Amino acid sequence: MSDRLFIFDTTLRDGEQVPGCQLNTVEKIQVAKQLELLGVDVIEAGFPISSPGDFNSVIEISKAVTWPTICALTRAVQKDIDVAADALKYAKHKRIHTGIGTSDEHIKYKFNSNREEIIERAVAAVKYAKKYVEDVEFYAEDAGRTENEYLARVIEAVVKAGATVVNIPDTTGYCLPSEYGEKIKYLMEHVDGIHNAVISTHCHNDLGMATANTMAGVLNGARQVEVTINGIGERAGNTSLEEVAMILKCHKHIGIDTNINTQKIYPTSRMVSSLMNMPVQPNKAIVGRNAFAHSSGIHQDGVLKNVQTYEIIDPHDVGIDDNSIVLTARSGRAALKNRLHVLGVNLDQEKLDKVYENFLKLADKKKDINDDDILVLAGADRTQNHRIKLDYLQVTSGVGVHSVASLGLDISGEKFEACASGNGPVDAAIKALKKIINRQMTLKEFTIQAISKGSDDMGKVHMQVEYDNHIYYGFGANTDIIAASVEAYIDCINKFKL
Ligand code: KIV
Ligand code: ZN
Repeated sequence: MSDRLFIFDTTLRDGEQVPGCQLNTVEKIQVAKQLELLGVDVIEAGFPISSPGDFNSVIEISKAVTWPTICALTRAVQKDIDVAADALKYAKHKRIHTGIGTSDEHIKYKFNSNREEIIERAVAAVKYAKKYVEDVEFYAEDAGRTENEYLARVIEAVVKAGATVVNIPDTTGYCLPSEYGEKIKYLMEHVDGIHNAVISTHCHNDLGMATANTMAGVLNGARQVEVTINGIGERAGNTSLEEVAMILKCHKHIGIDTNINTQKIYPTSRMVSSLMNMPVQPNKAIVGRNAFAHSSGIHQDGVLKNVQTYEIIDPHDVGIDDNSIVLTARSGRAALKNRLHVLGVNLDQEKLDKVYENFLKLADKKKDINDDDILVLAGADRTQNHRIKLDYLQVTSGVGVHSVASLGLDISGEKFEACASGNGPVDAAIKALKKIINRQMTLKEFTIQAISKGSDDMGKVHMQVEYDNHIYYGFGANTDIIAASVEAYIDCINKFKL
């Protein structure tokens, strides 16, 4: 009889805090439904007091999802808890996640307080949340750097106050796996009443140890893990869901099971990466492009003789279908629809038609269309409601000539044109754009990335533009990288609060 580990997914809260990765409510619902299919136990849907957008997302996700518990984050503040309870009103299973910093650094510099007062505030928050919901999770922020003896006192007090889950975050990603495992063991052995609550891990990856620390926690008694898809999250990210799920699947002797349907891992990873415009590093464990690609001669030879020589995971187990059809200009709508479905994207007929139209245009320029191209195409229609659209772009550039760009914009149906020269094609195109959109805006960051290989590949551009003391994030994708750059700039402008 194996033990059950609860999977608490915080892609939509801690994961979504990554600058430039914000999702709108419709996109969050799409991810939440996919997480439900994946089999997560808890979805942390947001931090309702932080913004009307987060509040609304928690409401809508609560309505859209049935099985997982919906969780809302708060500080140990009554107003936060009131708002979280309100946002959770439609959830079939609900949890309030409240907490406070417990390390000396947090107590002294963040709260200008002392250890006893922090325990009082923690207990008061849990009791207050209990008025609204039965399921209350408490987090001891920066528990990784909190002295174990004091941490045990905090945890004992909140469990006594009714906390059903106690979260031990390594907020700064500082702990060594041995230290973090010891911490969980210490709590298991020294907290009176600990068996009335579930201990949860929440590890950040600043030193690349998030998954190792999470596993050390599990091996020492934690029975909930807080994770994100693709390990996304602030700074170096959080523990990745797919790594923990596959470690437990590969190491059956540990005797701990999750409810994760591992065949949904890859489509979920692709969906999150595509909606958040956040590429997955090629060598990322489990879901990276190269995770199952054997390139050395010795490996290829071994894998051809028997895959078990070099593969510990069957790619099918994580939902990668290796005989994936390569789509070309001759592929029909049904093949595209099927591929999108495999990747976790289901579009209505009208959207599918639009994506298919763009697919054919791309297939004219690029021989083989891969999964990343398809996901970009499927996301491309998010510009449909943009007020400002690129109508046309013509650029002359080269070595020994001055770059010149002429560009046309469609602004709410009205056409505008401008021409400019610059020290390169992007500079010329952006100068022409600025002649039409005459605002004080500055390009702060600009990255161009090829999606896969080949000179006919699509380029993805991420941009940050500063306007009126705010940073706006934009994205563009096109086989023409100058056009992708202008699209990304226009994407930023469309987001300006005017
Ligand atoms: O990293 C952290 O400490 C957190 C808490 C708010 C749970 O995300
Ligand atoms: Zn965190």
